[in-house]
Amino acid sequence: MAVNDHVTTERRGALQVIRLNRPEKKNAITRAMYAAMAAALKAGDADDEVRCHVILGREGVFSAGNDLADFLAVATGGEGGQEVYDFLLALANAEKPLVSGVDGIAVGIGTTIHLHCDLTLATPGTVFSTPFVDLGLVPEAGSSLIAPMILGHQRAFALLALGQGLPAAEAKTAGLIHAVVEPDALEGAVFAAAEALAAKPPEALRIARDLIRGPREAVVARIQEEATHFRARLKSDEARQAFMAFMSRK
Ligand code: COA
Repeated sequence: MAVNDHVTTERRGALQVIRLNRPEKKNAITRAMYAAMAAALKAGDADDEVRCHVILGREGVFSAGNDLADFLAVATGGEGGQEVYDFLLALANAEKPLVSGVDGIAVGIGTTIHLHCDLTLATPGTVFSTPFVDLGLVPEAGSSLIAPMILGHQRAFALLALGQGLPAAEAKTAGLIHAVVEPDALEGAVFAAAEALAAKPPEALRIARDLIRGPREAVVARIQEEATHFRARLKSDEARQAFMAFMSRK
């Protein structure tokens, strides 16, 4: 079932597969795409036949992050932000395991989304990056809390504040992702991992996952705290200039 042209969802046995599908814009995520992903996560959680969520991009690109034209619209006085926020809450509160596959570009939310995934597989050419500060912004999606817990302060700081990219091999060593897989094997490996989870006793898996993830309250509170700063930063001169520089580049 297509939820939105730029986000497709399909059922694959007990898996719900959400795919970012806007390759002509490097899978940059628009407000409508966030809304479609949030709806898909909630629908999958509510459906007893779905045992696991899978999140994928396209060949060579997972996502170039939030659509910068949408950011610029907010920066210049427009509305926006609620769809992102709703999606982040649906992601942080997802009741079923999340498995993601990444090939190539993974910028901004294209990186931080995986902090909420239980297993992420990426190809050797993938680089995770979050140029929030370069854009005049601050980390989002709870990344300022979760990334230091996974990576330690200095690697998290290099990723989130310095804006230094983290190649897949280093991301695996650092514990950010589960495995590095060649491009032609990526989706097969993602589906195999998700199917293995889907075959587990669901109640035991749910409890195990809740225990391993820990309480969601702190993550949700951090998402809210970050969002307050993020909304203010979007309207800052620093951010407006960065968005305009990207939109008007030759
Ligand atoms: N928002 C809106 N459009 C985007 C985009 C984004 N985040 N990322 C890429 N695009 C668009 C480009 O404007 C371009 O559109 P056009 O063909 O109509 O000109 C198209 O996608 C292809 O992008 P391009 O920059 O030509 O591809 P590339 O392979 O040379 O570079 C990136 C890829 C990801 C390095 C580069 O697009 C980029 O830096 N994007 C912005 C990433 C970013 O800052 N995201 C926000 C994080 S908070």
